[in-house]
Amino acid sequence: MKVTLEELKQKPMPKHIAVIMDGNGRWAINKGLARNAGHRVGVQALKNLIIALDELKIQYLTVYAFSTENWKRPADEVNALMELMIEFIDKEIDYLDEKGVRVNPIGDISRLSGKTYEKIMFAKEKTKNNSHIILNVALNYGGRQEIIRAAKAFCEDVQKGNMQLDDLDEACFSRYLYTAGQPDPDLLIRPSGEMRVSNFLLWQIAYSEFWVTNILWPDFKKEHLWQAIWDYQNRDRRYGGLGGKRS
Ligand code: FPP
Repeated sequence: MKVTLEELKQKPMPKHIAVIMDGNGRWAINKGLARNAGHRVGVQALKNLIIALDELKIQYLTVYAFSTENWKRPADEVNALMELMIEFIDKEIDYLDEKGVRVNPIGDISRLSGKTYEKIMFAKEKTKNNSHIILNVALNYGGRQEIIRAAKAFCEDVQKGNMQLDDLDEACFSRYLYTAGQPDPDLLIRPSGEMRVSNFLLWQIAYSEFWVTNILWPDFKKEHLWQAIWDYQNRDRRYGGLGGKRS
């Protein structure tokens, strides 16, 4: 069934979508290309996604661009990914800025090479006052690392006397995460058919709806996004309660 924009607009949109951009390598291998060619087309798929979210007026997008585990890949591939990010910013930053996108890196970006780090900080600084779309780019990101970082920051505040142990609850802890002040993702999209969370937004996805597809990320198009949102809109989110199951 093909979903139309009119149908999608009849029900509440997700406020925040998170995407594990997976399957770039397989996409390239299937076509007899080098893995990096898949990452390159993956960047185009990301741009198309931003355009599609703009049309739907969805404000928050978090994408997994480089995990703390991705350092285990061959140096050539890691370097190519870093170069692609630099290229993406060089090519698209004015467009993103015009569209009101705020580029918000999340993760320990201090470990990235000087050139990549500086380019990402440039994009963050240039777009810091935008609020139309918040684009969280997870870079050298790990969900467990984020939780440990938040726990340490809270403990430091307790040591300094800024916080009391009793202040700690879920809302308080959330304010120590990279995504402080943002709604949690309503919808987590995972292409390439894998059924894993892969250390992504472990705290924030507690109640996210998962949408898994066999489509590989470079092939991900607006129609897949619309289908994912349609399926999300037609699910019964119960948050542990009874939701629509009441008789
Ligand atoms: C997973 O596919 C994808 C990545 C590790 C990198 C995703 C990054 C991009 C699409 C580029 C990001 C760029 C910007 C500008 C944010 P995989 O290589 O693990 O695919 P496979 O599982 O088929 O091998």
